[in-house]
Amino acid sequence: MSRATLSDYLSRSNTPASLAQLIETLAGGSVAIREDLAGGALNDILGAAGAENVQGEEQKKLDVIANDRIKQALGVLPSVRGIASEEEDEVVAAHHDGEFLVTFDPLDGSSNIDINSMVGTIFSVLGSRGEGAVSEAEFLQPGRDQIAAGYILYGPSVMLVLTVGQGVVMFTYDPQSGLYLLTEDQVRIAEEAKEFAINMSNQRHWHPAMQRYIGELLQGAEGPRGKNYNMRWVAAMVADVHRILCRGGLFCYPWDARKPDQAGKLRLMYEANPMGLLVEQAGGKIWTPEGAILDIQPTHIHQRVPVILGAASEVELCIDYHRD
Ligand code: F6P
Ligand code: MN
Repeated sequence: MSRATLSDYLSRSNTPASLAQLIETLAGGSVAIREDLAGGALNDILGAAGAENVQGEEQKKLDVIANDRIKQALGVLPSVRGIASEEEDEVVAAHHDGEFLVTFDPLDGSSNIDINSMVGTIFSVLGSRGEGAVSEAEFLQPGRDQIAAGYILYGPSVMLVLTVGQGVVMFTYDPQSGLYLLTEDQVRIAEEAKEFAINMSNQRHWHPAMQRYIGELLQGAEGPRGKNYNMRWVAAMVADVHRILCRGGLFCYPWDARKPDQAGKLRLMYEANPMGLLVEQAGGKIWTPEGAILDIQPTHIHQRVPVILGAASEVELCIDYHRD
């Protein structure tokens, strides 16, 4: 059977040529990152880079390598006006008259690198409204305004999961042809949740509403939910969200009392918004206890947010607990 390539899909979906080129460039960057990852210790890519990012987190060597690869690849596209990355202190200017702004998490789940487990690259494409030098203010657009979003999952196979606003599609990288081939059209999140994903070690620090909600899932068939749930936690958002797109469930990274002034761990513009567009395009929901994540007006590029995403009915229920 001959499968559609990424280029086939982009032309079939009438994606404008400049956006198609941008997405193909991100895909090209991911192939280089895949090579870096595949060699592991042989490529001297494991371990810490010896620096911290602007958010005070230790950078891994591969955080820096992946960031540079994507930054360089996007930087040559005339359509890119600027980029914002989890690993860059400030927005980076590209071409003054470019029409796109790109935000990305170059290597999501980077604590998994050293244990040869799954990691990913997350990206979001916004339209540009500015003139002259690019500014941070131009990036501060609600997630609903994203033109495209997606991620690359580096697992046993490498997958590109994409939305250009026409549902969600999945491609698998074919090492023989060097192409991404369409392997899943029309991704839909299962309505009924059987699994949940949350870092249970933080349970005692959550808001009481979150403790109660998860506590009831843990009571299984004997509790108020009347059925057993299974728990999974890969510790790479890309991999955990990928599982939810493939077989449903709920993913939460809630607010935590240890850092009461920090809204959550995950980043709005590099993680929550792009994943949010994918989840909503696949029929799911992504909320914080205060409202829909895609409606948040960002106030700065590195902003954090609590995240509850997955099967629509389960997300709604979890939010209801917070309203009580
Ligand atoms: O990017 C942040 C991140 O690595 C996510 O990919 C992941 O979901 C989460 O942090 C894991 O957090 P923790 O180390 O608390 O399990
Ligand atoms: Mn991340």
